[in-house]
Amino acid sequence: MMTSTTLDAPAAKPLLHWYDRHHRDLPWRVSPPMAARGIKADPYRIWLSEVMLQQTTVPAVKPYFANFLARWPTVRDLADAPTEDVMAAWAGLGYYARARNLKKCAEAVTRDHDGIFPDTEDGLKSLPGIGDYTAAAVAAIAFNRQAAVMDGNVERVISRLYAIATPLPAAKPLMKQKVALLTPKDRPGDFAQAMMDLGATICTPKRPACSLCPFNGSCEALRLHDPEQFPVKAAKKQKPIRQGAAFIAVTEDGEVLLRRRIESGLLGGMTEVPTTHWTARIDGETSADAAPFPAAWEPCGTVTHVFTHFELRLSIHRVAIASRIQVDNGWWEPVTNLDSQALPTVMKKAITAAIPLAFKHAKD
Ligand code: ADE
Repeated sequence: MMTSTTLDAPAAKPLLHWYDRHHRDLPWRVSPPMAARGIKADPYRIWLSEVMLQQTTVPAVKPYFANFLARWPTVRDLADAPTEDVMAAWAGLGYYARARNLKKCAEAVTRDHDGIFPDTEDGLKSLPGIGDYTAAAVAAIAFNRQAAVMDGNVERVISRLYAIATPLPAAKPLMKQKVALLTPKDRPGDFAQAMMDLGATICTPKRPACSLCPFNGSCEALRLHDPEQFPVKAAKKQKPIRQGAAFIAVTEDGEVLLRRRIESGLLGGMTEVPTTHWTARIDGETSADAAPFPAAWEPCGTVTHVFTHFELRLSIHRVAIASRIQVDNGWWEPVTNLDSQALPTVMKKAITAAIPLAFKHAKD
């Protein structure tokens, strides 16, 4: 472990050298050995992976990425896909407005740019659903532009490197400035990916492996002997709690009653089992009185799901009925087919509480 009190100025070179030897092999990535063989990054793959990776981990994204690429190998294929198919393929990744924008972005690239992604940050930002982060990441990784890319991993690395005491999120502009100053003209895409890999594998939230870090001669947090205290975070407000009820009806033929949520708002356009409104009132409706039809509804526990702005507690009710009942805006789906529906994770949890093996049906 480094003990001297003088630090080297942080520089990109040692990080790039580390990346050449220790990069992760990822399905969308053109690694340094691949680049040396003349392989070029595919902007479609880079864009798709970056949109999927926001708020989600690499292991969680891998199967979704493989499925999307197998079904829609090019941006034109995605543009031509039915929106419901894209939403169903996205189900489980969360933040469903992103899936809708993904499709809109593919359409815009196909329609307005002849299927070719713009190669600058500004050009990328003009597309639906592409914000500062995605524009910078795609510009750097797919087009080797000198863009400053900052995600959660990079925030952690940079906050430690400079021992930034300002709490997040107020520290973001300063952090971005530091990343921009450190981003090299040469290999900015590899630099961005190296910062992410370093954050994921060495500069981890707990017990970072500082002895293996290419920045260990220039890290202010390490000099202070306390890397874990960075990034400093503003105290978290407790999330409000909302509650409601969800109703799982199953016929003797093994069909479940489903509905489509309205286009706007949370989980817009996704599939659900019938639920009440999700209310912030502690005396909100959670009983079988709000069921989609009268029957011998039986309570079977509570499911909790944490959204960005609130925590939801859903009381689950189930009923077995002889045959289908007509319900407005509803349809009956075989349990064996639930995997292919655009069911968000909270709905899968609700169904599993009522039908424990609902999502265990092999599809092949
Ligand atoms: N997380 C988000 N984007 C990433 C990338 N391109 N490589 C590794 N981890 C990431």
